[in-house]
Amino acid sequence: MTEQREAGRSFDQRELRDIMGVFPSGIVVVTADADDPVGMTCQSFLSLSLDPPYIAFAPSITSVSYPRIREHGSFCCNVLAAGQHDLSSNFARRADDKWAGVDWTPSPGGNPVLSGVLGWIDCRLEAEYTIGDHHLVVGRVLDFHSERQAREALLYHRGGYALSAGSPSANSGDS
Ligand SMILES: Cc1cc2nc3c(=O)[nH]c(=O)nc-3n(C[C@H](O)[C@H](O)[C@H](O)COP(=O)(O)O)c2cc1C
Repeated sequence: MTEQREAGRSFDQRELRDIMGVFPSGIVVVTADADDPVGMTCQSFLSLSLDPPYIAFAPSITSVSYPRIREHGSFCCNVLAAGQHDLSSNFARRADDKWAGVDWTPSPGGNPVLSGVLGWIDCRLEAEYTIGDHHLVVGRVLDFHSERQAREALLYHRGGYALSAGSPSANSGDS
């Protein structure tokens, strides 16, 4: 393989963000520690294994919240519903007052469950790999709950909030 093919073509971070942005994702708020709540918005959430059950997410190595989640040793992934973009933006801030005015209850594992979420997944922090400028965090699923009522998820696409594919207004082609 030539040197150029090994290195790939040159591109900047903007181009990389743009290509990754064409792939839509859901949004979770990863929370921990009901005694001293911490939380951060993440789109890098994925189902990793069913048997045994594992999920993963990727916090930045510069995250202020993640070291506290790591120290707590367990966390809860709160899946946001359509309309919860204010909650997403709130937990995407580097701030001390993220929990002001936020309704939540403790999960069985002792992590905050945000009101109105589509579902939540309580996990034990099982493994962490540092890759480039992010950690890849693997969680062992311990408990979960999902809303029985069919509601749409909050999506993130091309750097902005979007409607679910199944949403009537996303399908109709008009507003
Ligand atoms: C929709 C959305 C998705 C995000 N996904 C991630 C992610 O997967 N990993 C990450 O490190 N930050 C992600 N962020 C940015 C963090 O939420 C943001 O950096 C936040 O300040 C982290 O909290 P902290 O600074 O208290 O650690 C996302 C932000 C938004 C709005």
